Amino acid sequence: MTVRIRKAVFPVGGLGTRFLPATKAMPKEMLPVVDKPLIQYAVEEAAAAGIEHFIFVTGHGKTAIEDHFDSNVNLETLLKKNGNTELLNFLKDCTLDSGKISYTRQSEPKGLGHAVWCARDLVGDEPFAVLLPDDLFHCKTPCLKQMVQEYPKTAGNLVAIEEVPQNQTSRYGILSVASDDGKLVRVNGMVEKPSPDQAPSCYAILGRYILSPEIFTELSKQKAGAKGEIQLTDAMADTLDRVPFHGMRFEGKRFDCGNKIGFLMANVEFALDRPDLADDFKEALKTLSFE
Ligand code: UTP
Repeated sequence: MTVRIRKAVFPVGGLGTRFLPATKAMPKEMLPVVDKPLIQYAVEEAAAAGIEHFIFVTGHGKTAIEDHFDSNVNLETLLKKNGNTELLNFLKDCTLDSGKISYTRQSEPKGLGHAVWCARDLVGDEPFAVLLPDDLFHCKTPCLKQMVQEYPKTAGNLVAIEEVPQNQTSRYGILSVASDDGKLVRVNGMVEKPSPDQAPSCYAILGRYILSPEIFTELSKQKAGAKGEIQLTDAMADTLDRVPFHGMRFEGKRFDCGNKIGFLMANVEFALDRPDLADDFKEALKTLSFE
């Protein structure tokens, strides 16, 4: 039976401390890569994967995200008057239809697992996607769409994965792999942010998930894990005895925009992919000294 993934959760309640001072009064998820905020890339990826309902878990200081996906009547009127259809279309791209978007609030940033748990009533009893906007994917077929296409083979919980350098395991949830067919790996364990000597492999869980609603039962137990936060990885690990768990190697590139180097790299990659910018940008880069 094919299961449709209709709903996606976007946890955007984190503090973004690694980007201070930029994130003092602005959500990290609104940081632009070239000229589009990170959150909009994630929403467009979800829409391309067939998502129909967009659920944001926000928190203090995140109202710019709500405004971004709403219409801006004054700006639209002005652009219409000036006949600027190109910019009007940009605005249309970031306006989500009424009723297709829901916001719930995480009263305190208690961790990713807690943020996902906050969406439980909005998700209900069906498998759903989770997209972390600070993981930005550059793929021919959007990463979540690749996952939705694989999901009928796996059901249960499916996460996007990537092999990371051994000295970076402490930044990620790391999988213990039972079998591997080259595309999908069957998982029999996982640990959040292990030190390199404790890591069961170098397969890292990235910020794209399709989760079975069983996860909410585990998350409701609300145990704090690594960094004192309620970790999604711990709840996923606790469902392993009853919910199949797979990792999927995606085709494309991923940029960790929660960290400065990843964010800068993403800007370069996405700018070089833009027909309106690439040539001028390449010329401009040549003027920089890399000594
Ligand atoms: P991060 O782990 O990057 O945390 O969150 P952060 O707080 O945003 O950033 P730093 O580490 O302080 O710089 C990954 C995603 O999970 C969300 C974040 O908003 C981000 O989209 N998140 C994290 C929540 O929604 N709530 C939380 O309690 C923690």
